[in-house]
Amino acid sequence: MRTTVSVIKADIGSLAGHHVVHPDTMAAANRVLAEAKRQSIILDYYITNVGDDLELIMTHTRGELDQKVHEVAWNAFKEATNVAKELGLYAAGQDLLSDTFSGNLKGMGPGMAELELEERPSEPIAIFMADKTEPGAFNLPLYKMFADPFNTPGLVIDPTMNEGFKFEVLDVYEGKAVELSCPEEIYTLLALIGTPARYVVRKVRRKKDNMLGSVTSIERLNLIAGKYVGKDDPVLVVRLQHGFPALGEALEAFSFPYLVPGWMRGSHYGPLMPVSQRDARATRFDGPPRLIGLGFNVKNGKLTGPSDLFDDPAFDEVRRTASVITDYMRRHGPFMPHRLEPTEMEYTTLPTIVEKLKDRFKKEEDVTKAKRSIYVGKGEETD
Ligand code: F6R
Ligand code: MG
Ligand code: MG
Repeated sequence: MRTTVSVIKADIGSLAGHHVVHPDTMAAANRVLAEAKRQSIILDYYITNVGDDLELIMTHTRGELDQKVHEVAWNAFKEATNVAKELGLYAAGQDLLSDTFSGNLKGMGPGMAELELEERPSEPIAIFMADKTEPGAFNLPLYKMFADPFNTPGLVIDPTMNEGFKFEVLDVYEGKAVELSCPEEIYTLLALIGTPARYVVRKVRRKKDNMLGSVTSIERLNLIAGKYVGKDDPVLVVRLQHGFPALGEALEAFSFPYLVPGWMRGSHYGPLMPVSQRDARATRFDGPPRLIGLGFNVKNGKLTGPSDLFDDPAFDEVRRTASVITDYMRRHGPFMPHRLEPTEMEYTTLPTIVEKLKDRFKKEEDVTKAKRSIYVGKGEETD
């Protein structure tokens, strides 16, 4: 059976700041998805959140960018926004950039990762969802999962993985994509994806048979809207096992709390902390950037699960390291490299602060002259 897993997310407002989705907004979204399931537009669904992002996980047979499925998601976000407005939740409707739905959700604010697959007899998948960061944040773990044998021994041991994987990389500034074949082009791949703000791994395919192994959401809201409208917190769908990374290989890629851009005001580097659903709330300094992982099996379009993948003491040490890094980074205060460089900050308002000083900036010679007149006395300057 050909099934599509669509993970579509939006920040439609949250409780007590950009902190956590309110259950009543999730209930509103649930009503819309339940009705869509009753009408057989979708086959199954699961709703969750990470921080202030409402996440709709849906299965159907309509393929990517389907008008009906996207309309369902749009209506769910709209209904949830109405509740957010009634409750006076913060930033209600933040990620919905348009008033009316037309065609599909591309460029309308919500982020999405849609993976169409021919179901294997058993189809295990993992869905990773992050808050307070951006799509390029998945570059490093995707490289580890699909190209690094020190993370994924299956690349060495499993004959179906041994040929390697192809990475489709999108240049989000130019809107162009390139496919790189690994292991041969690993160095070239790293030359690109080491700049995650610009180059984002969108899809990974198994070389042996071109089978899709992962899809990342690629929206960058700040580029869509041209000004601050919220960070584009990303989602990632990964197929697991039997020629794809084992569940543990996929999770191992998150065992190092690497630095990602985002966090407070979308303008700071911080460690990506893998947490359970219970802890998927943005607290300290509006973070630190959080990641949840849910494991499912897909059978005849039905979702079995989820398993809360980071709800495990095996990840306690990763979280502890992330907390230590949090302390370390915070001590830089407003200084780079904790704060992002100006072009990467979510808040595009920094230039307006600097602009206010425009008339107070003096050419350096004038300053020197003024300084000298203090010491030499007015009118006594010789040159
Ligand atoms: C970052 C984020 C938060 C807000 C911060 C200020 O993506 O959502 O860190 O940027 O709480 O929010 P405002 O400007 O709405 O007061
Ligand atoms: Mg928000
Ligand atoms: Mg968010």
